[in-house]
Amino acid sequence: RVPVPALLQRPADAIVRPQAAAHPKIPLPGDLFAPERRNSRGVEFGARAALDRLLTDVKAEAADLKPIADATPEQANAAVAVARAGFAAWSRTPAGTRAAALEQAAHLLESRAAHFIALLQREGGKTLDDALSELREAADFCRYYAAQGRKLFGADAAMPGPTGESNALGLRGRGVFVAISPWNFPLAIFLGQVTAALMAGNSVVAKPAEQTPRIAREAVVLLHEAGIPRSALHLVTGDGRIGAVLTAHQDIAGVVFTGSTEVARSINRTLAAKDGPIVPLIAETGGINAMIADATALPEQVADDVVTSAFRSAGQRCSALRLLFVQEDVADRMIEMIAGAARELRIGDPLEVATHIGPVIDAEAKQRLDAHITRMKSEARLHFAGSAPEGCFVAPHIFELRDAGQLTEEVFGPILHVVRYRAENLERVLQAIERTGYGLTLGVHSRIDDTIEGIIDRVQVGNIYVNRNMIGAVVGVQPFGGNGLSGTGPKAGGPHYLARFATEQTVTINT
Ligand code: SER
Repeated sequence: RVPVPALLQRPADAIVRPQAAAHPKIPLPGDLFAPERRNSRGVEFGARAALDRLLTDVKAEAADLKPIADATPEQANAAVAVARAGFAAWSRTPAGTRAAALEQAAHLLESRAAHFIALLQREGGKTLDDALSELREAADFCRYYAAQGRKLFGADAAMPGPTGESNALGLRGRGVFVAISPWNFPLAIFLGQVTAALMAGNSVVAKPAEQTPRIAREAVVLLHEAGIPRSALHLVTGDGRIGAVLTAHQDIAGVVFTGSTEVARSINRTLAAKDGPIVPLIAETGGINAMIADATALPEQVADDVVTSAFRSAGQRCSALRLLFVQEDVADRMIEMIAGAARELRIGDPLEVATHIGPVIDAEAKQRLDAHITRMKSEARLHFAGSAPEGCFVAPHIFELRDAGQLTEEVFGPILHVVRYRAENLERVLQAIERTGYGLTLGVHSRIDDTIEGIIDRVQVGNIYVNRNMIGAVVGVQPFGGNGLSGTGPKAGGPHYLARFATEQTVTINT
C-alpha cells in the first residue's frame, strides 16, 4: 500500500481558504476565517474556535425543507409580465444604487452564514468545506459585479468627435432576463447569474434547478431585503418544462443558462424559432475535462491535485477532472499513489465535519453513475473502487481506458478515467482533447516550461491550471467559463461578463 502523500495529511477539521490569499480585496467575514494559524505552506486555516461556533450555529439551524410547489405556466407568464413592467424603473435606477443593493446582499449572506450553510448541506448535500466555499463565492459574485457595475454603468463613456459635437457610449439593460441555474452551485451560480443581470439594469425571472428551489427562494428573499425591488426580481420554480415556458415567452430579452450542453442547445433552438427581436443566450455548460501529467511532474502534488479535482464535491463540478493522461514511464507509480490517496477519503454524511465526499444530488444521478461504472467494468481496467454507504452515494472509482475515445460524454460524478501516453505522442493527447469538442478546464502537471507553453498555445480551453488542482475558480481572480461545447462565454466572475447582459447606446449631440 502506497503511503498517503504528505499534502493530504491535513487536520480533517481545518478549512483551507486559499481564496483569502488570492484575493485580498474581497473582504472575508473575519469571524469565520480569522487567520489565526498557518500551515507549513503558508495557507491560512480557519480559526478553530470560530469554526466550532459556526458549526454549533449550523446544527441549531432548523432548515425547513418542506417541498415548494412548482409554478404553473400561467404563473411563469405572469412573472414575465410583472418583470417587464418593472424593467423601466429598475433600468433607470442609478448604477450606484443597484450596486449598493448587491453589496448589502453580500453582507446579509455573510451575517446569515450558518443558515445558508445549513441549507446548502441539507438541500444540496454539500460537505461543510463545499458549503463554506460556496457561500464565499456567492458573496464574492455580489461584490465583484457591484464593483464592475459601478465602473461600467456609472457614466456613459465619452467618445472622440469633431468640434461642435459630443459623443458618448453607454451600456443599458436589455429588458427581462431569464436566469436558469443548476443544482450543483444552488447559491453561488444562482446569485451570480441573477446579480449580473440585475447589475446590468435588467429585470430578472429566475428558474432554479428543481432539486434546489428552497435555497433559491431564500436567496431571492434576501435580495429583496437588500433593496432589489420586487417587481425587478421574480422566482419561478419547477423543472425543465417551466424553463421552456419562460424561454419561449415573446417578451424576454435574454437568457443566461448553466447546465448541460443538450439543454443549452434546446434553449438556443427555442430562441431562434421566435419571431421578433433576436434574443441572446449566455450559456455555461459541461466538459470532458482533462489533465496531462508528464514524467517530470511532482508525484505527490499530482496525486493530491487529481484526488481534489476528480473526487471532491463528489465530482459534481463542471470543472472536475474526468480524463487523466499520464506519461507511460511513471503511470504505474502515479496511479498507485492516486489510488492510495483516494483510499483515505471519507464518504458519507455531509453534516459530519470530517466528511470529504457527500451524496450525489439524487437517485437518478446515482443510477446514471452506477450504470457508467458497470459499463466501465467491462470495457476498462478497474484500478480503484472506494466503498460508499447505502443511499445516494457513489464511491470514487479509477478506470484505465485503452483510448480516450472510450469516454464520449461528461460523467458528472467521482469517476476518474486514466489513459497512458508516450512522451513522443503528446500531440495525439492534445488531438484527443480537441476531439471531445469541449473546452472548459485543463490541468497540466510538468516541470518543463516548453511543454507547458506548448500546451497552452495549442488548446482552446477556457481555464488552464498548471501544477495545481483544477477546481474552485475564484471570482475576479480566475474568470470561469469554456469554449466549444462548454459554452458561449463570457466568463463568470470576469471583467467582460456584465457587458454581455447589456445593450449599447451611442448618443451624438450637435452642440
Ligand atoms: N466554478 C466552479 C469551479 O471552478 C465550477 O463549476 O470549480
